[in-house]
Amino acid sequence: MEKKNLDWGKLTFTYQPTDYRYVANWEDGSWDDGELSTEPNVTMSESAGVLQYAQAVFEGLKAYTTKDGRIVTFRPDLNGERIERSAKRLVMPVFPKERFVEAVKQVVKANAAWVPPFGSGATLYLRPFEFGIGPVIGVAPAPSYQFRMFATPVGPYFPGGAVTPIRVKVSDYDRAAPVGTGDIKAGLNYAMSLRAIDEAHREGFNENFYLDSKTRTNLEETGGANIICIKGNKFITPKSNTILPSVTRRSLEVVAKDYLGLEVEERVVPFTELKEMDEIGVCGTAAVIAPVGEINDHGDVIKVPTGMEECGPVLKKLRDTLTGIQMCEIEAPEGWIVEIK
Ligand code: PLP
Ligand code: COI
Repeated sequence: MEKKNLDWGKLTFTYQPTDYRYVANWEDGSWDDGELSTEPNVTMSESAGVLQYAQAVFEGLKAYTTKDGRIVTFRPDLNGERIERSAKRLVMPVFPKERFVEAVKQVVKANAAWVPPFGSGATLYLRPFEFGIGPVIGVAPAPSYQFRMFATPVGPYFPGGAVTPIRVKVSDYDRAAPVGTGDIKAGLNYAMSLRAIDEAHREGFNENFYLDSKTRTNLEETGGANIICIKGNKFITPKSNTILPSVTRRSLEVVAKDYLGLEVEERVVPFTELKEMDEIGVCGTAAVIAPVGEINDHGDVIKVPTGMEECGPVLKKLRDTLTGIQMCEIEAPEGWIVEIK
């Protein structure tokens, strides 16, 4: 199979349509068989549930090329489980996780020419999503739904590359209400964050750190990634039911404990504790692990000891081990790697 002629090393985190996507439709109580499609556009009612009341949930995962040329994905079952939970929260029919994993295999295989080569720094990002496609006008769940999954080759999420430290600010906006939708992956959470990220970017920051909206004292997450901290031999990460249960963060907890011998603490993290951390980073599928160099809290700047020049040693080891597992250079725990054949 011949790869597409792209400058893989120069890719950024932007959308470009690839050859095939998977499409399944739900109507009258059941999903159809689903199939690959070459059509990147969606036609729907002007009154579709997604357009009127933002009834949409999504996922993000990646496919990788290994050193010996195989194509693999990382823990797609967890993304399948999470979109099931997200769909239930927005009263949408559940696209079963077994079919989700099957769709991942079909989309990656059909777009094998778009999976960036090993060592290029790029990966194939998969964007599964489900949305209300049927018309509503009173506030109600849509009468019909579409599940779709497209693939797009991507480079680093943050400009400056994968391991350059980022500068963040503490947001004045809330991302998630105490009993809201912060723990699911719904498009509405990201619509909520657009003004905050736009302001942050214009002020020269890469991202926002959100605090818990009830007390504004504890660390939550960023607009698109969980937060991890290193203090001595400890891997510390916020426990909260209003953040997204990140697949990357849950995997890093295992890597930290079982591969690097760190002590893992998932607990409430008061914002005031950040100045005691040796290293701070954000983690997610898109971000992988990006080190944080500075945190600006309304002009009060916390300078992380590892600085704005390079990634700290423990985060680097975590990142190297995780990506080594994802690209099959390091043995993965049982069930983490799903090969595309
Ligand atoms: N938190 C938010 C708000 C996200 O959008 C993401 C991205 O998916 C994450 C965390 C990281 O989750 P994951 O590691 O499953 O990609
Ligand atoms: C991901 O990491 O997959 C996400 O969905 C984050 C998004 C903000 C790009």
